Amino acid sequence: MKIGFIGAGTVTRTFGRHLMTAGHTLVVSNSKGPETLIGFVADLGAGATAGTKQQAAECDVVILATRWVSVPAALKGIDWKGRILIDATNAHVDTVPDISLAGVTRSRAALKGRTSSEMVAEMAAGARLVKSISNIPMDWIQDFSPTKPRTVIFTSGDDIEAKKLVIELINSTGFVAIDLGSLAKGGAMHEVGAPLSGLDLHFVRRLR
Ligand SMILES: NC(=O)c1ccc[n+]([C@@H]2O[C@H](COP(=O)([O-])OP(=O)(O)OC[C@H]3O[C@@H](n4cnc5c(N)ncnc54)[C@H](OP(=O)(O)O)[C@@H]3O)[C@@H](O)[C@H]2O)c1
Repeated sequence: MKIGFIGAGTVTRTFGRHLMTAGHTLVVSNSKGPETLIGFVADLGAGATAGTKQQAAECDVVILATRWVSVPAALKGIDWKGRILIDATNAHVDTVPDISLAGVTRSRAALKGRTSSEMVAEMAAGARLVKSISNIPMDWIQDFSPTKPRTVIFTSGDDIEAKKLVIELINSTGFVAIDLGSLAKGGAMHEVGAPLSGLDLHFVRRLR
């Protein structure tokens, strides 16, 4: 598949490499323009190209990989036309402005009782949003060994077909995508600060 990235940092470099190893091609974008990404895509190798945000957003599947504070600007002006958007972002407390409570409560207060992906879905109206890739630090998945139990990557979303495709995409890289349900219920389990975020879990077997 052709995968678009909005954001060209650690997540794009790491997960993009896994996607390319699995045979997918990439269009990578940032806020500064494709000409600033020549070295970045050259490091990723043949199969990765630099594009505008709109070109990335026109790929089969798009991955949002900017810091939380940049999400509104990153999504602005994109006509999604029902394309699939994976929200890989985390609403880290230090990037959520105007909040004064403590810890995870701080982040939740800023989100007004919604999961961060429900907010992203609102900002990306017209996209079929699936939250995934966000629960695992990229440092932990720099290398991939087919002989080790596969790392678990959680997934949530309200569009069943879109989620199925994202699960297939993630599984194609050698990771194991586990569906936790809707953006509201699943997101609340694997978004940053939630019980299933930041766990180094490995898949061994499934009963069915
Ligand atoms: N790093 C991890 O281990 C990890 C793991 C899971 C999830 N996450 C989450 O994934 C997201 C990305 O993390 P990261 O570590 O990859 O961040 P990063 O290395 O700081 O990269 C962020 C990228 O977003 C780009 N960007 C900023 N504003 C933009 C805009 N308006 N439009 C398009 N691109 C824009 C930046 O480039 P320019 O400023 O040049 O535009 C940069 O390339 C965060 O929400 C993070 O919490 C990170």
